[in-house]
Amino acid sequence: MQIQCTDKELFIFNKIAKASKALSMPCYLIGGFVRDKLLDRETKDADIVCIGDGIRLAHTVAELFNPKPPVAFFKNFGTAQIKIPGLDIEFVGARKESYAEHSRKPSVETGTLEEDTSRRDFTINALAISLNENDFGDLLDPFNGIEHLEQKIIQTPLEPIKTFSDDPLRMMRAIRFATQLGFTIEANTFNAIKTDVERIKIVSQERITDELNKIMLASKPSVGWYLLRDSGLLEIIFPLLLQLQGAEYIDGVGHKDNFSHTLQVLDNIATNTNDLWLRWAALLHDIAKPATKRFSKEEGWTFHGHEVVGARMVPKIFTKLKLPQNEKMRLVQKLVALHLRPISLTKENITDSAIRRLLFDAGEDIDALMLLCNADITSKNRAKVKRYLANFEIVRKRLIEVEEKDKMRNWQPPITGEIIMQTFGLPPGRNIGIIKDAIREAILDGEIPNEYEAAYELMLKNAARLDLKPVI
Ligand code: CTP
Repeated sequence: MQIQCTDKELFIFNKIAKASKALSMPCYLIGGFVRDKLLDRETKDADIVCIGDGIRLAHTVAELFNPKPPVAFFKNFGTAQIKIPGLDIEFVGARKESYAEHSRKPSVETGTLEEDTSRRDFTINALAISLNENDFGDLLDPFNGIEHLEQKIIQTPLEPIKTFSDDPLRMMRAIRFATQLGFTIEANTFNAIKTDVERIKIVSQERITDELNKIMLASKPSVGWYLLRDSGLLEIIFPLLLQLQGAEYIDGVGHKDNFSHTLQVLDNIATNTNDLWLRWAALLHDIAKPATKRFSKEEGWTFHGHEVVGARMVPKIFTKLKLPQNEKMRLVQKLVALHLRPISLTKENITDSAIRRLLFDAGEDIDALMLLCNADITSKNRAKVKRYLANFEIVRKRLIEVEEKDKMRNWQPPITGEIIMQTFGLPPGRNIGIIKDAIREAILDGEIPNEYEAAYELMLKNAARLDLKPVI
C-alpha cells in the first residue's frame, strides 16, 4: 500500500479485493479516502470504483463478512453502501457522465477508470489505489494529484469550465477544500468559477449550506468567505453578508468595514470553539449594521439597536439558508441579541444587579456569550483593545463571583406562577405575570434576597395592591 492503512482497513480492502477477483471486476479505492490518507487527515468513509456493476460488487463483498452487513443501494445512481463499524464504504461502477444543462441529475454511462477519474472534480480527488491482485496497493495518479497535494493546489482534471458546468456544486467544493486544507485555487480554475458563477443557482440550498457549514468548521473560516466574495458566489448565495462590506465617510469621519470585522470575529471565535452555532453567531452578530446605520454631527456613525434588529433577522436568514429552525437557531438569536451586553458594562455599572441581570438573560449560554464578546474585540486601536480587554476581564471575574454567591445560572424565582395561583385561588391570567415579574425584578435588583420567605412577603404585598386575598 502506498498509503498508511490501519489493520482493520487492510482487512476490509482485502475482502473487497477477493470479491472483485471472484467477479473479475477490477476495482480501486478513490477520492477523499486516498486524498485524506496522503494528507494524514482522519478518514471515515471510503469510495470504491469498479469496472462493472457497483451494486453487484457490494453484495458480493457483504457476503464475505460475518455477520453480513446490510447493503443499501440506489438503482438509479448505480451506487451501493455498506457500513462496517468504523468505515462506511460506497461502491460505484466507473462511468463517463454528463449532466443536463439545467440540472444536476447525471445521465450515467459505463466507462473506463480513465474516463471516471477525468470526470471527477479535482486532481487531488482523482487519485486511485488499485485493489487488484497484480498491482494491489499501487497508486494511480492520472492528473498530477500528488504534485498538487504537495504544492497545495486545487485544480480541475479537465478544462475547469467543463468540470464546473458538469456540476456547479464543485465551485463551492473548490472553495471549501481550499479553506479546509489551506490550499490555493489555481488561477484558471478560480477564473472559471467567476465566469460560471450564475450556474450555482441550479444547486439546491441544502447542498450549498452543507458546504458553508464545512467552511464554517474550518480552522480559519474567513478564507472561505473571502473566496466566496472574490468569486462572485457570495453575491448570489448570501448578499446580506456582502452588504457589511465597505466604510462610508462623511465630513472625514468613517466607520470600520464591518465585513472584515465580522470575519475577524469569526476567526477569533474559531480559535476558541468548534461549535458550529457559535461560529454562525459570530458571522451574524453585526448583520443588522447596514440596516441601522445613521450619521449625525454629534455622534458620528451609529448602529443603534443593531443587536435587536439583527436577532430579529436571524430566523429569516436561517430559513433562506435552510439552517435548522430549532434551539440552535434560538441560541444564535440570543447571542446576537446580547452580544453588546457584557462589554457595554463600564466600571461604574458593574453592579451586582447588572451582573445578575446578565446571568439571568444569558442563562446557561453565558459562557458562549462571553466567548463571542471576547472575539468581538478587534479594534486596530491598541489602547482601545487594551481597555476593552481589561473591562472584559473585570466582567468575567464579577460573573464568577456573583454566580458563586447567587447561583443565578438557570435560576428561577423562588415563587412560581403555580404558587401564586394556589395562594389566591386564581386561574392563569395577567395578575400572575405582574406578581411574578415584580418578584423577579426585586431579586435581580437586590431589593430582596433570593429566598422563599422574602419573595412570599413581596408576593402578598403586590397581591394586596391588586386587591387579591389569599385563600390558603
Ligand atoms: N466528487 C466529484 N464531484 C462532486 C462530488 C464528489 O467529482 N460534486 C468525487 C470526488 O472524486 C470526491 C468523491 O467523489 O473525492 C467523493 O465525494 P465526497 O464523499 O462528497 O467528498 P470527499 O472528497 O470524500 O470529501 P468530503 O468527505 O470532505 O466531502
